Amino acid sequence: MPRYCYVNGQFAPHNEGAVHIEDRGYQFADGVYEVVTVADGRLVDEGPHLDRLERSLNELRMKMPMARKVLALKMRELMRLNGLRDGLVYMQVTRGVAPRNHAFPADSVPSSLVMTTKKMNFATMKKFTDGVSVISTPDMRWARCDIKTTSLLPNCLGKQAAVEAGAYEGWMITEDGMVTEGTSSNAWIINKDGALVTRPPGNEILNGITRQTILALAAEEGIPFEERAFSLEEAYEAREAFVSSATSFVTPVVKIDDKAIGNGKPGSLSERLLGYYKEYAAGLRTRAA
Ligand SMILES: Cc1ncc(COP(=O)(O)O)c(C=O)c1O
Repeated sequence: MPRYCYVNGQFAPHNEGAVHIEDRGYQFADGVYEVVTVADGRLVDEGPHLDRLERSLNELRMKMPMARKVLALKMRELMRLNGLRDGLVYMQVTRGVAPRNHAFPADSVPSSLVMTTKKMNFATMKKFTDGVSVISTPDMRWARCDIKTTSLLPNCLGKQAAVEAGAYEGWMITEDGMVTEGTSSNAWIINKDGALVTRPPGNEILNGITRQTILALAAEEGIPFEERAFSLEEAYEAREAFVSSATSFVTPVVKIDDKAIGNGKPGSLSERLLGYYKEYAAGLRTRAA
């Protein structure tokens, strides 16, 4: 089955999708993106993802490329063309094409929109059953990590360091030893009292949509949680740990650097939360906004 992408108003074969060399996304990483999971043909948390897209665009004084309803239709059309039942929809909006100049182009320059899809099989992912390891890596990013910008070079360097160390993810650490988040996920620990701990939203992290869903599910299930910063030292001593993102759901962490977490196996609360999240993704339960 041929694979299609969407580029500035056109559906095209995936390997023919191309943007102009003076697109500001290419020149300056002047763009934002979203990744929405598709589970059994459903877009998981579509509303919150599109809300965050609009927020990211507003923070950077960019326009939505089209009305939200039209964007929702284009996403579904691309899913249909690609026969996508399980996987993700990636969308990226940039400030458009203009002669290279750091300052913004005229308001009349339309933003660019690119969308792709990727098939994934969430049912057979070993990371959910076996857990993963993470390494610590310095947080070298800018002061607006709350914006989901395509400017991801420090995240790429951190992920590459993780891959070279045989790990799944890099947890980014501030100069004073606190964990901010993963290079493409949010970071969580479960402390000695069985409470979930994750950093509160702020300029230092991306407020993950999965993160927000997990907090809502935990509240419904009566699982205590604390939104506060935690240190790498505290993480080493945690009872359990996990990462969350649209495609990682709740992925148990069994090792941080050379320290086994708990008994070195996925923790029971992480497994429970993964179960709740899978039910939610499958549309079998809802969550409070
Ligand atoms: C830096 C960073 N933090 C957190 C997340 C998790 O966000 P979400 O749950 O919305 O996928 C991501 C996802 O890509 C990310 O790149």
